[in-house]
Amino acid sequence: MRILITGSNGMLGSDLVAELAPYEICGLDRHNNRHSQIQYEQVDITDRTAVLKAVTLLKPSIIVHAAAFTDVDECELNPTQAFSVNSKGTQWVAEAGDSCGATLFFMSTDYVFDGTKQLPYNEEDKPNPLSVYGRSKFQAEEFLKSKCRSSWILRTSWLFGMNGKNFFRTIAQLAREKKELRIVDDQRGVPTYTKDLAKAIRILIERGSRAKGYHLYHIANTGETTWFQAAKKFLEKTCPDIKLIPISSQELNRPAKRPLNSVFNMERIKKDFGIQLRRWDEALLQFQSEVLKKE
Ligand SMILES: NC(=O)c1ccc[n+]([C@@H]2O[C@H](COP(=O)([O-])OP(=O)(O)OC[C@H]3O[C@@H](n4cnc5c(N)ncnc54)[C@H](OP(=O)(O)O)[C@@H]3O)[C@@H](O)[C@H]2O)c1
Repeated sequence: MRILITGSNGMLGSDLVAELAPYEICGLDRHNNRHSQIQYEQVDITDRTAVLKAVTLLKPSIIVHAAAFTDVDECELNPTQAFSVNSKGTQWVAEAGDSCGATLFFMSTDYVFDGTKQLPYNEEDKPNPLSVYGRSKFQAEEFLKSKCRSSWILRTSWLFGMNGKNFFRTIAQLAREKKELRIVDDQRGVPTYTKDLAKAIRILIERGSRAKGYHLYHIANTGETTWFQAAKKFLEKTCPDIKLIPISSQELNRPAKRPLNSVFNMERIKKDFGIQLRRWDEALLQFQSEVLKKE
């Protein structure tokens, strides 16, 4: 089984490279390869011809498509680029994958929802993205649903991991520089550790990738929190003296609107594959000890 990981230099992509190492893996991203042990193609996924050439050369049977324009506020300010990478780029990867009979696992997002539901979102709930990022990812989902021979859409949320920019790394940095931090407390969601997610994707590939057609799953760590509560948990041992001030999304006033609730119901993936990730705060503790070990 040859597995191609797009976005292999990214936060999730790097953990996928490690988790899927027992298989024959190859990577694709737009800058120099970060992982010397894998076959690699340097490609911008907005270039349709280059994507087709690279995928045809690599001939994967599975593609995990994690490459994306992931800065939600930058997407809001650059909608043309956001749709070009997240929607069209996904279309080019899917078409190239189809041409060599590959099954595609596409990483999508909780930001396809508008957050007005009070209960956790399940796969039957209707998306209504509030941001350019959310719309660009949902447009990719719609393409895969209607046009791709074999696709798995995996929606996940609030990623953190060792190899990329994320909320907890930013908080750790700010806590070293400041005495007080103002953090949003009106968005509910589930922080998800990319190492845990990579393990779950491996199980899905091993148990499910022979099934053709269209599949949609919500997948994240379990439990729920707000950014404020998550920051409190993260800093309680390492920076007990820092003052944390809860604020509203409106006060923060970022370019892109976020859903106030994006907690997932994950019964479907549990029922179909027995996959249930551990609680987000347990995963966060492990992440924290790994960060401390490294620094
Ligand atoms: N982060 C989250 O909280 C979150 C939540 C839900 C879903 N997701 C989805 O999960 C996936 C992985 O997220 P992540 O946070 O691990 O992403 P990430 O760290 O930003 O990695 C994405 C990778 O894709 C590359 N890339 C960007 N534009 C490209 C292009 N035009 N052509 C080729 N490669 C390109 C990036 O390169 P550069 O570094 O050079 O830009 C980066 O290496 C994404 O599909 C994302 O939409 C993320």
